[in-house]
Parts: sequence; C-alpha cells; structure tokens
Amino acid sequence: MLDPANPELLTLPGGGRSTATRLVVLDHSIDELYGDRVRAYFDANSVPVEYLTLPGLEESKSIENVLKIVSRLNDVGTNRLSSPPIAIGGGVLTDVVGLAASLYRRGIPYVRVTTTLLAQVDVSVAAKTGINYEGYRNRLGTYSPPPRTLIDRMFLATVPRHQLRNGMGEILKMALIKDPRLFALLERHGADLIETRFQDPDGTLGAVASEVIGRAIAGMAEELEPNLWEKNLRRSVDYGHSFSPLVEMRALPELLHGEAVTLDCVFSAVLAVRRGLLDPADLDRIVAVTRRLTLRPSHPLFCDADLLREALADTVRHRDGQQNLPILTGIGRVCFLNDVGDAEIAAAAAVMETMLDTDPVSAAR
Ligand SMILES: NC(=O)c1ccc[n+]([C@@H]2O[C@H](COP(=O)([O-])OP(=O)(O)OC[C@H]3O[C@@H](n4cnc5c(N)ncnc54)[C@H](O)[C@@H]3O)[C@@H](O)[C@H]2O)c1
Ligand SMILES: [Zn+2]
Repeated sequence: MLDPANPELLTLPGGGRSTATRLVVLDHSIDELYGDRVRAYFDANSVPVEYLTLPGLEESKSIENVLKIVSRLNDVGTNRLSSPPIAIGGGVLTDVVGLAASLYRRGIPYVRVTTTLLAQVDVSVAAKTGINYEGYRNRLGTYSPPPRTLIDRMFLATVPRHQLRNGMGEILKMALIKDPRLFALLERHGADLIETRFQDPDGTLGAVASEVIGRAIAGMAEELEPNLWEKNLRRSVDYGHSFSPLVEMRALPELLHGEAVTLDCVFSAVLAVRRGLLDPADLDRIVAVTRRLTLRPSHPLFCDADLLREALADTVRHRDGQQNLPILTGIGRVCFLNDVGDAEIAAAAAVMETMLDTDPVSAAR
C-alpha cells in the first residue's frame, strides 16, 4: 500500500483523485514505524496532505479528540465529498476519526486503513464508529460505514504478539459460528501465523495468512450485511460476547478484548455440551486450539458464577430484554437460547475451574 506506484491510498471512494488537501490521521505507532514511508508516498504523488497524529490508546477515544479532528478538517478546508480524510491505524484511531467524519457537516466520507489484526478482521467490516464517555465504552457513536476501507497484511509485521492473539480471538469466533474450514486452518497453522506475524517467510504461509484474514472478513460481512443497523438482536456474531463484556471490564487491563472473547467462546461451548447440544469432542478441539493460539481457555473470573450471572443480566439489557444467547451445536453451527438458568451457569463455571492453566504460553508448547 505504501509503494508510491500503488494508487489505492489516494484513490477516492468513487474513483479518481483529489487535488484538494487531504487530512491524514495517523495512529502514533504507525507514525513512528511507517511515518517516513507514508510521507514519502504522498510526496512522490504530489498530493497536498496535512497530518495529525493521535495515540492509539483507549483513552484517545474521547470527545476532545473528535473536536480536535473537526478543527483540523476546518483548517485544511476539507470538501464535502471530494477530499475525504484518511485514517491509518488500529480500531481506536479509526473509531474516533470515523465519528468525527460522521459529524462533520452532518457526515462526510472517510477512508479507513486498518493496521492491527483485530482492526483488519473486525473493525474493517463494521459500520460503527464510537468514543468512550463517562467511563462507558462506545457510549457515543454513529452508524456510518466508510465508503472505502483498505487492508494490507504488511502492517501486521510490527504488531506486538499479544495484539495478534487479541485479533485471533475474533477469528476463532468467526470460525466457530460458521466456518469449519477456518477452524481447521487455525488448528493447523494458527500458531505459525502468530509466530511469523502473518507474513510469508517460507513462501507458503502468506497464502494461508491471506485466506485466514479473508475468510474471517467474508464471514463477518455476510453476517452483518442483512442486519447492518442491528434491528435484529439475534446475532450469531455475538457469540463470545455474552459474558465477556463485564469480565473484560473487571479484568482491565489484564485481558484484551479478544482474550475475553475467547474465554466466553469456551464457556459457552461448555454450556452447550452440558445441554447435550455440542459433542464433547468438539469442546476438546476448541480448548486445544485456544492453547495452540496461546490464548487461555479459562480464567478465574470465568469460574465466578455470581459475576457471570451479573454479566448475562447486563447483556440481556443490551439485547433489549432477551438472552438471545448464541450457542454452538457443532463447529460452524449456532442456535439461540433464551432460558439459561443460574444453576447451569454455576455448573459451567465449575467446569471452567478444571481448565485453569498456569501459563498458557508454556502450556501451548
Ligand atoms: N467500530 C467497530 O465496530 C469496532 C469493532 C471492534 C472493535 N472496535 C474498537 O477497536 C478498538 C480496538 O482496536 P485495536 O485492537 O486495533 O487496538 P488499538 O487501536 O488500541 O491498537 C493497539 C495497539 O497497536 C498499535 N498499532 C496499531 N497498528 C500497529 C502496527 N501496524 N504495528 C505496531 N503497532 C500498531 C497502536 O498504537 C496501539 O498501541 C477498541 O476501542 C474497540 O472498541 C470497534
Ligand atoms: Zn468483539
């Protein structure tokens, strides 16, 4: 993407180029690692550009940064349609730029370039923007899909391994709800993909990396497309997101989002086995793959039945009064439950206790 001969980064959503100045907003890590190449790219193409760099930290998802971006759009003289700002970074950066663009003049287009694994497989398909407010995550936001999103696996070469594991949690979720082939790829190559940071050291892994990312994105797009505005709250993509939100908040900063999602994937699979919906052999495969991805299958907070009951109660409010709990009936298949009771949550939590690992990284070896 940063090869000056490649026009993609400049190309406007409808095609063609802008002669007006573009605002390019960079994640601070991207500026540090790729800033010279980004600047060389626009210089070589003689495109007038102004830069703004923001930290890729959850605290950056603030109304102050939205207003800072809006001020820069004013300074730059951004046109209504023909000079959309370009956001290059992880999900934090693209969420905050997306919100600013969706408010500016009641909404202008923007170009989203995702640079972490989580952002590439999850954020890049999403229609949502958002910032945190008064201690609540994504409390303010909009549904405003950008007309153009670009993904380049090259950026993953510098993403820290724990951030890659974070993205792997979301890929695992996609595999579990609808893609047995993706699950098999994770079983076979997941550990190597993390080790090589989705690059292509031997001339074969690059194709696997592209297939894994491509399948995760295609699966997500297929699920979101008919329900972009989330009017239907029975969403299989919510698998792994029923108990994890509260646990993730309680565990901060220990658990990244994708790690909490993975724990929820395992816990929900335990519930499914206890109901006789899922073959215990499938649960064994799921637990084995989490360990291979150096993701923990269990955690003390997922053994705490009271916390898990509270987590589900909060999710029920988020799902407008229904559990709508996605549950596996096989690897690649889900159904929905609305009658999960306290006793079965406690029983599943007790099973999670038997899976507590000491150190997932060494257990995986
Ligand atoms: N809009 C949506 O629907 C949606 C969906 C999922 C997640 N999100 C949001 O995404 C955010 C999480 O995104 P994330 O996981 O990308 O985290 P992030 O944006 O915080 O990035 C993680 C870290 O990686 C750094 N980084 C980014 N690209 C890099 C690169 N190529 N090399 C080295 N370091 C790099 C960042 O500076 C940061 O320190 C959350 O705020 C979440 O709410 C939004
Ligand atoms: Zn998620």
